[in-house]
Amino acid sequence: MSEFTTQELLDHVKSRQISPGNERVRAITARIVGDLFHTIDDFDVKPDEFWAAAKWLSQLGEAGMVGLITAGLGFDRLLDIREDEADLAASRALGTPRAIEGPLYIAGAPLYQREVRLDEGNEGKGETFVMEGRVLGLDGQPVPDALVDVWHCNELGRYSHFDPSQPEYNLRRRIETDAEGNYRFRSFLPPGYAIPPDSPVSELFALLGRHGNRPAHIHFMVSAAGKRALTTQINIPGDTFIDDDFAFATRGGLIVSLDKVDDVSAYASLGVTAPFTRAKFDFVLQDAQAAAEEVPGGRYTKAA
Ligand code: DHB
Ligand code: FE
Repeated sequence: MSEFTTQELLDHVKSRQISPGNERVRAITARIVGDLFHTIDDFDVKPDEFWAAAKWLSQLGEAGMVGLITAGLGFDRLLDIREDEADLAASRALGTPRAIEGPLYIAGAPLYQREVRLDEGNEGKGETFVMEGRVLGLDGQPVPDALVDVWHCNELGRYSHFDPSQPEYNLRRRIETDAEGNYRFRSFLPPGYAIPPDSPVSELFALLGRHGNRPAHIHFMVSAAGKRALTTQINIPGDTFIDDDFAFATRGGLIVSLDKVDDVSAYASLGVTAPFTRAKFDFVLQDAQAAAEEVPGGRYTKAA
């Protein structure tokens, strides 16, 4: 058997091949493995430490929480920054800023025309909130029949599906805009979100000396024929963590203003009583340059 230096071992790991494989996967794996070899050398990582890390990764996977570690380490926002940069480089106007999807989206929420009570089954859970506006193109023209897929956490900061105590699709709905691009929904102002306690995720953040809080937010995926699908969030002003989001996802252009509405006459179908809190917000979509751009996110559903 051969004796290898570290460098020789790395060269072997990178170059062994019995079939072409995938060139890109080979190149990226080689880079990551090389960087980790160097990390182990530079920090004199001991076997116990290495295997503790491997065990932690296994636990993360077994808990189905791999998707819960990426945002806090900045990867989700990094991908958005790179998309923004690509748009700027291509002289594409941005429209409504994108914001991360997060790991807690579920496709196939119940579909309604023009408006919905997102808080159905959650009566009395928080401050009544109505959000309304239009889906527009970059030219300011309304987009009829656009789909506004909206989801937020419950009054305890947890998301349905991932929290088995909630009904299916709780606080998740899709709204199709009318001929003038209008949508609106009633819900309650959600609280912030925190990473699951006593999990591999919270274990890492404790070791990093970091908190795992997100300020109050509502998620959206907005799509329409001929338009580039937009994944974004709005933030609710006044939250302690608005400038200290553990997922680095909040953006100035996405903090809505809240107003108090006393005249409920235009809101009878939503059953609100006066006064209630409202935010007006229009989503501005780019034109799609390829059919694939029209397909809304769903980060695992879209991934190859
Ligand atoms: C995470 C959770 C969220 O609710 C969100 O919007 C973004 C990220 C997370 O746990 O990583
Ligand atoms: Fe979220």
